[in-house]
Amino acid sequence: MIGFANRFAGRRAVVTGASGGIGRAAAVRLAAEGARVGLIGIDAAGLDRVQAEIAGAGGEALTLVADVSVEAEIEAAIDRAAAAWGGLDVVIANAGIELLGQDDRVDRLQRSVWDRLIAVNLTGQFLTSKHGARHLLAAGGGAIVCTGSNCAYLGMATNEPAYSASKGGILAMMKVMAIDYARLNIRVNMVVPGFIDTPMNAPVMNDPKELAYWSNQIPIGRAGTADECASAILFLASDEASYCIGATLVVDGGQASI
Ligand SMILES: NC(=O)c1ccc[n+]([C@@H]2O[C@H](COP(=O)([O-])OP(=O)(O)OC[C@H]3O[C@@H](n4cnc5c(N)ncnc54)[C@H](O)[C@@H]3O)[C@@H](O)[C@H]2O)c1
Repeated sequence: MIGFANRFAGRRAVVTGASGGIGRAAAVRLAAEGARVGLIGIDAAGLDRVQAEIAGAGGEALTLVADVSVEAEIEAAIDRAAAAWGGLDVVIANAGIELLGQDDRVDRLQRSVWDRLIAVNLTGQFLTSKHGARHLLAAGGGAIVCTGSNCAYLGMATNEPAYSASKGGILAMMKVMAIDYARLNIRVNMVVPGFIDTPMNAPVMNDPKELAYWSNQIPIGRAGTADECASAILFLASDEASYCIGATLVVDGGQASI
């Protein structure tokens, strides 16, 4: 784990999708820099492991099992974190799924697959932002960081129109939230990961031929790490990003610049 500073001392944060990948890295790093962190997700055992990891390092975290696409669940999880710590300052709307092999060219795409990807990725970030923003407003301000993707504006995720549309929706929603909250002292920004070594990409990471193919498409020549994305998330969530409103911070090894 990288630990730089104490930018989040006294801050209260929630992170969705905190049991693995980018969410876990962001949660661990937030805790290492002083935040109390609500770990939200559907994988209870995974969340407990991250909670124990944070506690073992001297930090404080709460396991909050909730499906981000179910409003009553995500609302209750966020309310619990806020109740435990008397409010919230940071909301990381990160949980997401990719349904490889099911998301498909639109003439073959099942409506149910489309609905699921939109529900978890886009509606999930809407609901996380909605219930998180209530507490940030009550606290007098704060930061929301959404996790997007390059495929929001590039047709790079071939045969994944539903995943791409969900990320395009997040980008548009994030821009409007950024303006709507700018004078309410809530900064809304987005980190845009490229090809990152997380459980989501395990099928590619574990296949040397696939990994070489995809790494070759990236100017830096390798996949990114969850920690590299967490660095960007923490920057946008911190006071260092005090003039960043509606920013998209691309963490992609140069992929979108080709
Ligand atoms: N890995 C990449 O290359 C990459 C690239 C671009 C964007 N992203 C985005 O980054 C975010 C994190 O992805 P990751 O790579 O860490 O993936 P991951 O699969 O490693 O982690 C996703 C997390 O979300 C949780 N989750 C899944 N469905 C959920 C639901 N309905 N409610 C609550 N939690 C749920 C999972 O349990 C897991 O903890 C996602 O939004 C993803 O779309 C990832």
